[in-house]
Amino acid sequence: MIKQIMVIGAGQMGSGIAQVFAQAKYEVILNDVNEKALEKAKTNIEKHLVRSVEKGRMTEADKQATLERLKLSTKLDSARESDFIIEAIVENLEIKTELFKQLDAIAKDHAIFASNTSSISITELAAATKRPEQVIGMHFMNPVPVMKLVEIIRGLQTSDETYQVIETLTEKLAKVSVEANDFPGFVANRVLMPLINEAVYAVYEGVSSIEDVDTVMKLGMNHPMGPLELADFIGLDTCLSIMEVLHDGLGDSKYRPCPLLKQYVQAGWYGKKTGKGFYEYK
Ligand code: CAA
Ligand code: NAD
Repeated sequence: MIKQIMVIGAGQMGSGIAQVFAQAKYEVILNDVNEKALEKAKTNIEKHLVRSVEKGRMTEADKQATLERLKLSTKLDSARESDFIIEAIVENLEIKTELFKQLDAIAKDHAIFASNTSSISITELAAATKRPEQVIGMHFMNPVPVMKLVEIIRGLQTSDETYQVIETLTEKLAKVSVEANDFPGFVANRVLMPLINEAVYAVYEGVSSIEDVDTVMKLGMNHPMGPLELADFIGLDTCLSIMEVLHDGLGDSKYRPCPLLKQYVQAGWYGKKTGKGFYEYK
């Protein structure tokens, strides 16, 4: 039974994941190597909870109790106490594999490991551990507290029992799950990311301006955000990593990342989180 949950990585995804688990009455440890990221995550979570109280979605007492269930930690050793560990660190195979190896040595035997990866092979992450049947993809959408979907990804070795535990956990968060098999980008990013990449190509090739490409998709297709605004929101570093996984893994030139996307990432223009991407942010 899952009581204690550890969320590793306190960026925009990890903080949202920690928030929804704490709201669903789980004891949560939010871990990051960067103390500042943890402080920022706590401030953001508090801000969202205050708004929920103001809007009448939550009582002040529930807000306090939610915050009390949330502990911050910079030490991976805290994994020793957890029944379920989900990582939302940088979208990089080597870094995630190293983390799973370390966790395998620390965590309880029954603990399930999940990755919130957007595209990386769950099978490969699972193979870095001695418990591959207890490793699974649990892919939340951004912003986590708002978006209803969780894509659950079965690695080749993932057991039915593990799948069932995660499906039930998703229901407890009042979210809807969709099952996907372990191919690059799964469903969400196999469909979304080529759209974003194509929008970058439209700008790169001078078909239209950044603003106009977004306007076409917002007013013409009723998307809540244009693809370039959405790319900034996701993080251009993450978008590029996902395109590289699609390109390498599926081997089709239609997935080649746009040179302009690469150049923005080289410049450190990662989007909203760094203050500049296709747009500028205060
Ligand atoms: N955390 C928590 N709540 C948030 C939030 C956040 N980061 N951002 C917005 N919200 C809440 C707001 O508080 C507001 O709620 P209330 O008014 O009820 O309090 C509600 O969401 C709507 O927000 P806004 O009125 O400020 O703005 P909006 O109507 O434009 O909605 C949006 C914002 C929900 C983000 C909307 O623009 C949207 O749906 N955008 C597309 C998001 C999307 O496509 N996400 C998927 C990205 S792909 C992915 O996640 C997978 C991957 O691997 C890359
Ligand atoms: P982010 O850059 O906002 O945050 C990543 C955090 O991980 C940072 O705070 C960093 O300090 C921390 N970190 C890096 N290495 C670590 C380690 N070894 N141990 C502990 N913490 C570490 O990234 P994000 O946008 O939150 O994305 C995180 C993951 O979620 C990625 O795998 C990404 O593909 C996936 N994802 C992102 C989105 C999105 O829209 N951004 C949506 C779904 C899934």
